[in-house]
Amino acid sequence: MKVIEEIKRIIHLSDLHIGESYKGKEIFRRDIGDQLVEEVNEIKPDIIVISGDITADGYEHEYKMAREFLSRFKVPKMIDTEENNIGLKELDQFDSPIFSVPGNHDTRHGSFDLKLKFLRELVDTYKEYDVKTRELSGKEQNKFFIKRFKPLIIDFFNSCGGLTAFEKYIGKAQKIYNGKGFYLVGVNSSGVGKDMDADGDVDFDDVKMARSLGLVGVKTLPWIEKSVKKADPDDFIIVVMHHHLIGIPDTGNDDNVLMDSGDILRLLLSCGVDLVLNGHKHNPWLWNLNGLPVLDGGSCASSSTPCDNNFNLIEIEEEIVIKRRYLGKHKRWEEVARFKNKKFKRRKRNL
Ligand SMILES: [Fe+2]
Ligand SMILES: [Fe+2]
Repeated sequence: MKVIEEIKRIIHLSDLHIGESYKGKEIFRRDIGDQLVEEVNEIKPDIIVISGDITADGYEHEYKMAREFLSRFKVPKMIDTEENNIGLKELDQFDSPIFSVPGNHDTRHGSFDLKLKFLRELVDTYKEYDVKTRELSGKEQNKFFIKRFKPLIIDFFNSCGGLTAFEKYIGKAQKIYNGKGFYLVGVNSSGVGKDMDADGDVDFDDVKMARSLGLVGVKTLPWIEKSVKKADPDDFIIVVMHHHLIGIPDTGNDDNVLMDSGDILRLLLSCGVDLVLNGHKHNPWLWNLNGLPVLDGGSCASSSTPCDNNFNLIEIEEEIVIKRRYLGKHKRWEEVARFKNKKFKRRKRNL
């Protein structure tokens, strides 16, 4: 623990994809992961923000691996002095100050998917059972039944992925960290569950589409507004969500922005947010939208990346300096942008 006045240095990580990927091939780069841990521990940031896709497929065993990996960050947590004890400090369940939101990959294989998968397999298996056992004796029918249905049922009860696992092994999917002069709002943009559309309809295809494209949803939108409005107007306010608010060049023409990005952008621009952190497309980028920087993190440790793996360091003082650190063989720093911190002087006066 360390006593600190303000949060000044933030590490922004994204899209680690820890675990197995399609056909058992791992896309998480363990060697790059080792570099990442070493570098972040050396930088000793005040907080580590992760904009989603921590796991490859949202399975429970991947979350166990992710928890183990993230526990390797050894950054002291801050404690506020008593007179400076402000509001909520909802960090994740680690000894280091980690604050993460789920990505579309993290919400896969939750109980919702499992129920659906289970029901479909159950129907298919029953059809097969019905056809194949017609000519068999009762004993043989029972044997066939156990052989086909038992693994299905075991699988169903042994699996716990998606958001349930995120909250079990990492932290809350939506949360707020309120420090001195600093306010961070974490949003789950992989809209799964009842937070779907205006009439509250949920259907399986909607859920899949919402997860992939990204959806904040009609119930979460007012929560963001309420949360941001609770911040001191002089706080440096950051909102983090996995999916892109604005399209990223060179990422193709599919699934590029959140389904309700227009609503969110209008909201964020109207309530004094200072910085937005996104992930998802693995292509690092920065948009400046009417003075609101929207920073997209690349993939910091997966093989699915169009460039060397990278992460961001954000320094908040009189200026906001965004630096990108590339990992791998060609380690290097790149200054991405410098902005005037419009709240700096006013906030200094008020502190
Ligand atoms: Fe990703
Ligand atoms: Fe993603």
